[in-house]
Amino acid sequence: MAGLRAQTLMFALVAALAILDRTFVDANFDKAMVVTWGKDHIGTSNGNLRLVLDKSAGSAIRSKVAHLFGSIEMLIKLVPGNSAGTVVAYYLSSTGSAHDEIDFEFLGNATGQPYTIHTNIFAKGKGNREQQFRPWFNPTSGFHNYTIHWNPSEVVWFVDGTPIRVFRNYEKEGIAYPNRQGMKVFASLWNADDWATQGGRVKTNWTEAPFVAEGRRYKARACLWEGSASIKKCADPTVRSNWWTAPSFSQLTGLQLARMQKIRDGFMIYDYCKDTNRFKGVMPPECSKRQF
Ligand SMILES: *[C@@H]1O[C@H](CO)[C@@H](O)[C@H](O)[C@H]1NC(C)=O
Ligand SMILES: *[C@@H]1O[C@H](CO)[C@@H](O)[C@H](O)[C@H]1NC(C)=O
Ligand SMILES: *[C@@H]1O[C@H](CO)[C@@H](O)[C@H](O)[C@H]1NC(C)=O
Repeated sequence: MAGLRAQTLMFALVAALAILDRTFVDANFDKAMVVTWGKDHIGTSNGNLRLVLDKSAGSAIRSKVAHLFGSIEMLIKLVPGNSAGTVVAYYLSSTGSAHDEIDFEFLGNATGQPYTIHTNIFAKGKGNREQQFRPWFNPTSGFHNYTIHWNPSEVVWFVDGTPIRVFRNYEKEGIAYPNRQGMKVFASLWNADDWATQGGRVKTNWTEAPFVAEGRRYKARACLWEGSASIKKCADPTVRSNWWTAPSFSQLTGLQLARMQKIRDGFMIYDYCKDTNRFKGVMPPECSKRQF
């Protein structure tokens, strides 16, 4: 009997969460986000996002609410053609000097191909954890799925369902982890020709402007952050069971790990953990630990 009651309670809880769920899952850009830069360079309609960059301005948008843990998903089609100097940034960030941040950035190329998929993570203000990849597809000819999974145990960057990078929680060993600050979701298109393409040697060619990137199907299956150290609401019951209360370190299956290894072997072009010159031999502590 007790079991049955527990089951009924559980059912009610899941149903209640499912109602909450609808307000956050499949959130459209126009409902869930606000424009923060380039009002006349941005379009949001029917769940589509259009980011424009020309010589006068770029464009940026951010979520209205902040999240602590969850799965943040967006389909993106990058700037086609000569995109050197342009950067599409899609990231989570908190505010303040000791901020947390989880990044996807897409650096263009003068020949159109290949792009650089740049990733980084900051915890308590400390970044310098870049890893870069070549896409194994043409990211300008169609939409591709870039997803950040973030739970108390680990952060995983996914591209079209394939994990490419993991950052694990080694807080107990003195390495900061992003788990105390809510982060908002940002997307932007801007000119970074002082560094983006071959360290700033290739400049943005403004005669090719306007540059346009597009987004679709923004989804935050994520817990809501309301400004204190505790999570208030999780928008999706699956987040709760699969991510928020993750019992073990790794949520990735053996198959996913194998696919990630293959991508890293074949398409990773920069790994801060291998850059001994940069760190003068004193490598960041997480580099000597299991990465995934
Ligand atoms: C995008 O990828 C994530 C992570 O693999 C997955 O959970 C989600 O269902 C995908 N979304 C779409 C629209 O394909
Ligand atoms: C741009 O593409 C060319 C090939 O067309 C490649 O050799 C080069 O490394 C790429 N540049 C960057 C900065 O990724
Ligand atoms: C810039 O783009 C224009 C138009 O495509 C082209 O004619 C010109 O050669 C480009 N300039 C440089 C420096 O590549």
